[in-house]
Amino acid sequence: MISDKVLDNLPQEIRRRAEPYGEAVQLMTQTSNAKVLRSLAPSAVRGSILQRGHQGAPTLMPSHPKVYFDWTYPNDHPEMRELYTRAKEQQWNGDDLPWHIDVDPENPEKQILSREFMDFDALRASGIRLTNLEERRLNSSMASWMLSQFLHGEQGALFAAAQVTEAVQFFDGKLYGATQVMDEGRHVEVFHRYLDTKMNKLYQINDNLSVIIDSLIQDSRWDVKFLGMQIMVEGLALGAFGTMYQMTKEPLLKELLKMVIQDEARHVHYGVLALRDHFRYELSESERQEREDWAFEVALLMRNRFLSFEVYEEWFEHKMTRKEWAAFVTASPGFALFRQVMFKRLVPNLREIGLMSDRIKPHYDRAGLMDYFGGASASQLSGDQMIAELDAA
Ligand SMILES: [Fe+2]
Ligand SMILES: [Fe+2]
Repeated sequence: MISDKVLDNLPQEIRRRAEPYGEAVQLMTQTSNAKVLRSLAPSAVRGSILQRGHQGAPTLMPSHPKVYFDWTYPNDHPEMRELYTRAKEQQWNGDDLPWHIDVDPENPEKQILSREFMDFDALRASGIRLTNLEERRLNSSMASWMLSQFLHGEQGALFAAAQVTEAVQFFDGKLYGATQVMDEGRHVEVFHRYLDTKMNKLYQINDNLSVIIDSLIQDSRWDVKFLGMQIMVEGLALGAFGTMYQMTKEPLLKELLKMVIQDEARHVHYGVLALRDHFRYELSESERQEREDWAFEVALLMRNRFLSFEVYEEWFEHKMTRKEWAAFVTASPGFALFRQVMFKRLVPNLREIGLMSDRIKPHYDRAGLMDYFGGASASQLSGDQMIAELDAA
């Protein structure tokens, strides 16, 4: 096993080559459930060691979901039908966002992330002094990194939404799914346009995000794909979008995020509707427990491992160790807010779909996540309410 201590003591060039192995090993050693580990391990090798997301060329992933046809076209799920109607009414055109706004990430009045996102005093205490301009540039790098991960996540969401639309057994769900495919396409469009024309910078996909997407796209069980994408990754997205929405002073990005968050609120709502009855009535107890364990491990993975090492490699590789960077990022106020918003959205949804039994609760409790248990789930909360909550915070 490659420990942090061993990595820290290697010459820099060797360390850089060895670190992906350390990442994969850490991911595997931190995943305590053997079944979950078996399902994530191949994706961890492809994502962290082979770095499939970093090759610049197209990545081909095998995927074999069963396509569920129904030639009788039933009205089989009134709540999904209602969501479909709402989704049609709430479609929007990315071209209508105020793209004329001039974005200058280095202007302190219009910063993409407010200065409080990172704790610059803590950096100074560890001996790293940045000028005001460097602080703003680091802040802007962090914003580009986050937006780049949003974009890569949206590409995964686009394909996963298409697969879920094929596989779901509710006809009303298929019609709704078609609107989600359109939504995710629009999200790819607007995030890419923002990065390309306003930030002029695109980071590669984070290894851990690549592990999750790889594992979802290739899983042939439709409900695991659904759980991963519609509940876990959408929860992660709502946490990250909500944090950025709260912390940005840039009006174009704020408007863009507001529109995207309202779409994502419908996507999670759909996930809750589709999985609630399936987990309750269709699965055996052992199958349900397997999903429950998987969701818990992925929740921890999302909490512990999105540490923007790509920004570290660009800024601080010669100045601090990865471990010091991980501690700095984990303690920064922006990431703390991200974890809070993410779990506030995610935990009630897991409860609602039946993946928070008394068996798993102590694990969430030990991870400090039971505080969110009593919150409103996506089926009880509209996009407008989510935005109102973020505005009031
Ligand atoms: Fe999306
Ligand atoms: Fe989505």
